[in-house]
Amino acid sequence: MVSIVPSPASHHRTVSTVRRHSVRSATVLTVDEHSSAGSSVGDLTEAAGCVRPADGFDLDVTQTDLAAPTRLDAASLDLLFAGARTTNTFTPEPVDPDVVHRAYDQLRWAPTSMNIQPLRLTALVSRAARESVVAHLGPRNQAKTLAAPLSVVAAYDPAFHTHLDVLAPHREGLREQLEGQPERRDAMARTNALIQLGYLIVALRAEGLQVGPIGGLDPLGVDAAVHAENGWRTLAVLNLGHAPDPADPTAQRPRAGRLEAAQAVLTR
Ligand SMILES: Cc1cc2nc3c(=O)[nH]c(=O)nc-3n(C[C@H](O)[C@H](O)[C@H](O)COP(=O)(O)O)c2cc1C
Repeated sequence: MVSIVPSPASHHRTVSTVRRHSVRSATVLTVDEHSSAGSSVGDLTEAAGCVRPADGFDLDVTQTDLAAPTRLDAASLDLLFAGARTTNTFTPEPVDPDVVHRAYDQLRWAPTSMNIQPLRLTALVSRAARESVVAHLGPRNQAKTLAAPLSVVAAYDPAFHTHLDVLAPHREGLREQLEGQPERRDAMARTNALIQLGYLIVALRAEGLQVGPIGGLDPLGVDAAVHAENGWRTLAVLNLGHAPDPADPTAQRPRAGRLEAAQAVLTR
């Protein structure tokens, strides 16, 4: 559990503005036994208190809590970073796909360029969906992905601009401009979805999960397997579980070195 340390000098003032908006498309899909191509189960707009466009309003929820804490405590930071490990194999305890929705509900508040939020996720719940994706992973990534309690395909939506009226109302006309610029859209979407992928890994760890990211795959093959209907473009697969498999000495590899801040951070 992530706990927080309140700032001793916090100001107890909350500023809230509420306007209405709408986003029709789900951002997290679950592929289950009944839908090999993916069925929408994640209407995340409801979680944000959003409403449907039918009522004619635009909704946007902004909350700035000036009493917010200034720093996570050491245990919480450890859960997210130094104490967390990449995990290859897991105990068989199932992972409820709802956790992906909960993690997304957190990460969506983290920033992207112009707030474009291009990350899209597909939880592979059925064996058939999992196998269709595993066929396009590198040989060393296949067995562990088949065995993981849950696998999720992380992708970007090159048609993210269709949501810009809601996501970036401050950039009037950008949606129309990007309509004719597919290469620019692709670069924007890819860059920002990769940023969101980092947020996702941390959000899943914050949910108490072990994460094993897989970038060694054929993205076009995975796209053909699970993105044929929505045109999303694969970035990675994330394998999820509750704990490393205690019977597998390679469940987590020995921790490799890290650069020191002095090597990676300059002060000028
Ligand atoms: C985007 C990304 C792609 C990765 N791709 C693979 C992969 O294809 N196969 C694999 O075994 N590990 C993969 N990893 C795992 C990394 O090797 C691992 O996270 C890193 O070495 C740190 O390990 P640690 O968390 O145990 O310190 C990937 C990690 C990330 C973030």
